Amino acid sequence: MLNLAWWQSAVIYEIYPRSFQDSNGDGIGDLAGIIQRLDYLVKLGVDAIWVAPIYRSPMADFGYDVADYCGIDPIFGTMQDFDRLLEEAHLRGLKVILDFVPNHSSDQHPWFIESRSSCENPKRDWYLWRGEPNNWMSNFGGPGWEWDERTNQYYYHSFLKEQPDLNWRNPEVRTAMYDVLRFWLDKGVDGFRVDVMWLIIKDNLFHDNPPNPQYRLGQSSGNSFLPVYNSNRPEVHAVVAEMRAIIDSYPERVLIGEIYLPLTDLMAYYGQELKGANLPFNFFLLQSAWDAHTVAEIISEYMGVLPSGAWPNWVLGNHDNARIASRVGVLQTPIAAMLLLTLPGTLTIYYGEELGMTNVSIPPEDVLDPAEKNQPGIGMGRDPERTPMPWDCSEMAGFTRGRPWLPIGDDHQVVNVEIMERDETSILNLYRRLIALRRAHPVLASGGMRSVTASGNLLSYERVAENERFLVLLNFGQSPVQAATEAGIVLATTNSHRDGERVNNFIGLQGSVGMVIRIAL
Ligand code: NOJ
Repeated sequence: MLNLAWWQSAVIYEIYPRSFQDSNGDGIGDLAGIIQRLDYLVKLGVDAIWVAPIYRSPMADFGYDVADYCGIDPIFGTMQDFDRLLEEAHLRGLKVILDFVPNHSSDQHPWFIESRSSCENPKRDWYLWRGEPNNWMSNFGGPGWEWDERTNQYYYHSFLKEQPDLNWRNPEVRTAMYDVLRFWLDKGVDGFRVDVMWLIIKDNLFHDNPPNPQYRLGQSSGNSFLPVYNSNRPEVHAVVAEMRAIIDSYPERVLIGEIYLPLTDLMAYYGQELKGANLPFNFFLLQSAWDAHTVAEIISEYMGVLPSGAWPNWVLGNHDNARIASRVGVLQTPIAAMLLLTLPGTLTIYYGEELGMTNVSIPPEDVLDPAEKNQPGIGMGRDPERTPMPWDCSEMAGFTRGRPWLPIGDDHQVVNVEIMERDETSILNLYRRLIALRRAHPVLASGGMRSVTASGNLLSYERVAENERFLVLLNFGQSPVQAATEAGIVLATTNSHRDGERVNNFIGLQGSVGMVIRIAL
């Protein structure tokens, strides 16, 4: 077996800190709450937590509007709480990955306050100011340029007007932001998930974007132009390489990029000579149709274009996308889990997916997400997938003593950790078994991927290493299927009761059932 870095075989667990565990009764999760639940994560078997932003912020975009890159927001606790989280996590063998938000700061960040104060201010050029706007849009809808009366100019914001974009062409900005990385790395943080990595740098001549021929009324106005000049610019790769050089100047750290781009563009983020992101997030499972053929295609295409030596990764859920159970249906969540946990490379699980949490619908008058508020009713809202983690059967699901910031799912009396821990057949226990299986058999993380085949509703593939072959069978349909196999032993089934069974030439799988078979060699 290869000698892997920790992150290569890791299962990363994303924590949306507002919703994981509240410790002080204000209805919002916090760092002390995460510490209380570390043992749960150890038992689940994950290797690392990625904590979405915990920095000081006016919370216009719930922390993705940072007002102090090196300070903790009081809602989440103090720097002492953070240090304790890091220590307690490390004591348990868990790595800690932070969110780094380089594309934009909060409009309340002292840098922006200075920048907007006058055209002559030394920090004026730290942001993108122009006398005339161009046609670049905000990803949250509407024009990306905001008029500022004080200096009679516009500034650009890829997201909210409260999130002005930093000017990454300015070397002082780069130095300041790299100091931020070092601040956390010096503390012992194990890596970063870099927010909107593909947007960081824009065309220096501010060319207008071409219209998007696919744009239809009813879609976000943010999609009305193709983001040719304000995203995925060639110069971004030099910035990523600089970040990576800093990461690599510390031992055993990881650089992950949030990138929503087509496959070949995404691959470029591994960088020349693989000196870019260690892991450009692979979101293809998040966005695709859910059927055996599409998933087979995604796996084959992705594995087929990975640059030599680049490490694969897979994501099944995050705080910007519908919950997997709501996308594919509750019946299919076990095979989604088995799919994820038998794919090669590094995996990311979003908190609550191990319980099969579903989207919680939020009445229009209670919507909090600014993306939804900007353009109501067109499916931009992310509140439904950000609701509190249900821990037990108590009124507030063990999440808080107070009033939760977003509603707890109606099903929390049955979908919660306490109930599912006791039920051998629960999705939580399936996740635990599959994560343990992955640990016990390194071939699942680092072995080859072979014979990816879709036949009707059946997806099958083999994970192989020298002297080992694992056959994975996943029934995406509701009806039983027959699958060809070779002599072997069932290592895991999604409904557990056939584990240990010996198989020969054929095996039947009920609807929505998956199986891992170790082929006898
Ligand atoms: C991507 C983050 O994941 C999302 O939640 C946020 O709203 C935008 N970036 C802006 O930072």
